[in-house]
Amino acid sequence: MREIPLLDLKEQYRTIKKEINAAIQNVLNDAAFSGGPYVGLFEKHFAKYNGAPYTVGLNSGTSALYLALIALNIKAGDEVIVPVNTFIATAWAVSYVGAKPVFADCTRDTWQIDPSKLERKINRKTKAIIGVHLFGQPFNIDRVMATAKKYKLVLIEDCAQAHGGRYKGKKVGMFGDIGCFSFYPSKNLGAYGEGGAIVTKNLGIAQRIRSLRNHGSLKKYYHTEIGFNMRMDGIQAAILDVKLNYLERWNKRRRQIAHMYQTQIKNPHIVLQYQPLWSGSVYHLFVIKTKRREKFMRSMEKNRIMTAIHYPIPCHLQKAYNHLGYKTGDFPVAESYSKQCVSIPMYPEMTDSEAKKVIEAINRYEG
Ligand SMILES: Cc1ncc(COP(=O)(O)O)c(C=O)c1O
Repeated sequence: MREIPLLDLKEQYRTIKKEINAAIQNVLNDAAFSGGPYVGLFEKHFAKYNGAPYTVGLNSGTSALYLALIALNIKAGDEVIVPVNTFIATAWAVSYVGAKPVFADCTRDTWQIDPSKLERKINRKTKAIIGVHLFGQPFNIDRVMATAKKYKLVLIEDCAQAHGGRYKGKKVGMFGDIGCFSFYPSKNLGAYGEGGAIVTKNLGIAQRIRSLRNHGSLKKYYHTEIGFNMRMDGIQAAILDVKLNYLERWNKRRRQIAHMYQTQIKNPHIVLQYQPLWSGSVYHLFVIKTKRREKFMRSMEKNRIMTAIHYPIPCHLQKAYNHLGYKTGDFPVAESYSKQCVSIPMYPEMTDSEAKKVIEAINRYEG
């Protein structure tokens, strides 16, 4: 019997192989490798998909967050509020600009940034909040945005895991000042290498990031500021352009699988992520909580079902951030979450019978 993986990129490639190979061939024929027309085309389509006036394609989601902070003038000495329960790259971007990440705990049920814990973090140095639509589920945008407005802070949406996710029916990414996406291969919209993008309503911000990604230059060999090489590859853009056409279909399938899990997993030892009414999750990951995690993972392994942990150590307890002086106990909700969370298989190519097998194995688990 086939092992049920956490995700299945080989099977996904098999279903779109012809189109992908043709798209790569076009880039090779045109030798449009770095930036160039295929990036422009993907930017146009990704902007339309998100209802964004401007999109800038980049070489990673981390670069997207980094350039977003520069474009919003966040500098050394500033503080930026970041959820403690996120992938570390959200915080990296703050450190790259010399600012200080100030972590905020998550809620007990959604495991997303807790809006009620933001105000007490704000002081004169606070300049921005980065909200993360973790696992594809939008955070409470209205409440986080209300705090940002009240204190005149900019809001960045980290949409690395939430391509196509909806908050109150509207796609994420355009609520804040800048939306940042990653196209890391495992993402809902994933490249065959690295990639990222920003979306924004603001032409000035888009132009600044366009220049920053290209050595601080909009006109060849004229450099208006110190920039970077953070351009998107032509091959990645062409691949993403093909895959973008499938994104809604793939997200719909993820939602169907999530619905099966949510309605059919019935085990007192398992806690599911709470989905508020306004949440249009695209289930980048399907995470559950269970007290005896190692035992649960071993039991899944015996059933040839892959699991993983997202994430075992919350940002404030990572060695890299020792210098910030946080300690165990500072964020009790995220710390308890990180000891109990487990991701179970979630990918659009999963069949109903595979999903049923996962559900049955979980329901048989005795805790
Ligand atoms: C929440 C989050 N933010 C940022 C990133 C960084 O994106 P990338 O890996 O493309 O640099 C990722 C993914 O890796 C992520 O999951």
